[in-house]
Amino acid sequence: MATDRRPEYFKGAQLKVGIIGCGYVGLPLALRFAEAGHRVIGFDTDAGKVSKLNAGKSYIEHIPQTKIQQFVNSRHFSATTDFTRLREVDAMLICVPTPLDERREPDLTYVEQTARSASENLQKGQLVVLESTTYPGTTEELVLPILERSGMRCPLGRGPEAENILSDFWLAFSPEREDPGNKQFGLAQIPKVVGGVNPPSGRAAQALYAQIVGRVVPVSSTQAAEMAKLLENIFRCVNIALVNELKLLCLRMGVDIWEVIDAASTKPFGFMPFYPGPGLGGHCIPVDPFYLSWKAREYDFATRFIELAGEVNTAMPYHVVEAVAQALNQREKSLKGSRLLLLGVAYKKDVDDLRESPSLKIMQLLLERGALLDYNDPYFPQLHKMRHYDYSHMKSAPLTPHSLASYDCVVIATDHTSYDYAAIADAAKLVVDTRNATRRLLRNREKIVLC
Ligand SMILES: NC(=O)c1ccc[n+]([C@@H]2O[C@H](COP(=O)([O-])OP(=O)(O)OC[C@H]3O[C@@H](n4cnc5c(N)ncnc54)[C@H](O)[C@@H]3O)[C@@H](O)[C@H]2O)c1
Repeated sequence: MATDRRPEYFKGAQLKVGIIGCGYVGLPLALRFAEAGHRVIGFDTDAGKVSKLNAGKSYIEHIPQTKIQQFVNSRHFSATTDFTRLREVDAMLICVPTPLDERREPDLTYVEQTARSASENLQKGQLVVLESTTYPGTTEELVLPILERSGMRCPLGRGPEAENILSDFWLAFSPEREDPGNKQFGLAQIPKVVGGVNPPSGRAAQALYAQIVGRVVPVSSTQAAEMAKLLENIFRCVNIALVNELKLLCLRMGVDIWEVIDAASTKPFGFMPFYPGPGLGGHCIPVDPFYLSWKAREYDFATRFIELAGEVNTAMPYHVVEAVAQALNQREKSLKGSRLLLLGVAYKKDVDDLRESPSLKIMQLLLERGALLDYNDPYFPQLHKMRHYDYSHMKSAPLTPHSLASYDCVVIATDHTSYDYAAIADAAKLVVDTRNATRRLLRNREKIVLC
């Protein structure tokens, strides 16, 4: 007999939850549902990841193997590439990538493919939630029509008159706010914004998430939920651009931007610190704002803050390379032919994630200008071929006083906590520091160039 899944059903103690896309977002979510006592199936197209998960292994640095093993052993978690098993679940949460294509336009092929698999296996009363970051309108305009190819309906509706609208399945959007590696805020502590295509869909999704997070924040539509995520990321992107631009000015004026930010941060209201760096990185901040600028064009609307922030942030790796060239020039050396060591390829400290990392661009620019380049990163013993770069021939160079002394310049691109900055500055001939990682060093200041 078919399960009667009204919105209240999702308050139930033992649900079967399908997580589609077991990456940085999907895997922690899957483990959190397992921890809350639900049965979870992780769906992924990558057979290698699926077999690792079923063997209780982790492929993400900050997700402990023991946690996966525990839930695999207790049968609260398993993974599969068999999407017909979507029929078994009460709810399916979509956490697949939403990158930009070659023309820097939204690439929704992963979402479309997933929506097709969901549609082919959709059961009455199932709840589908899109979590992938995307432009406002995606859930209603793209996902809903694909799901309705199943022959089942989920009518759009808002307000009191749609309160009990009849629906064959439920559909909502709830943005993921995961910050990989953040030890202060885990998934359970981060409130979850939820918007349904109709009120019962919203209630079903709220009931489900209330079981794994401390606070659920309902909004009136999927568009509001989609836009909220973009506002959060655009806020970061614009403020980082602002502080990057002010850093360039401060460098010319001989003012220490980090000291300025520390001073401004003492204001107990109305200010939030953002820090300059070698450029934007990570899967979200450099990518997501452009989902909105693309959508805005449909409304003849220019998102000028996004474009300007993009321009400033994109220029930062070029600034770093210029600073390295100048620092070498001061020592009567040219960039061409100099031996350089770049510290940190991850996009931010203490993570094993190099997606959109500015280090990759800096490396490309240094190599193009004839530098003899090595890198070191404890999280990446070797590099592999990526969409835009091929560093598959490069291996992380050892960090010994002897090796450090052999380079003309050491460039700190990512300020991993494990680096001993005092020892690096002691041994290196010249250090270009893009993160102010050397802020506490009193010795060797004459060798250190902040940029
Ligand atoms: N990483 C973050 O910090 C973060 C934070 C918030 C939101 N997001 C958003 O979450 C979404 C997922 O990001 P992520 O970082 O987890 O990506 P990811 O690349 O780490 O993981 C995506 C997973 O989906 C799998 N996949 C690809 N196509 C699939 C398909 N058709 N069916 C099933 N699985 C498929 C991939 O094999 C991979 O395991 C994106 O929209 C991203 O913008 C990411």
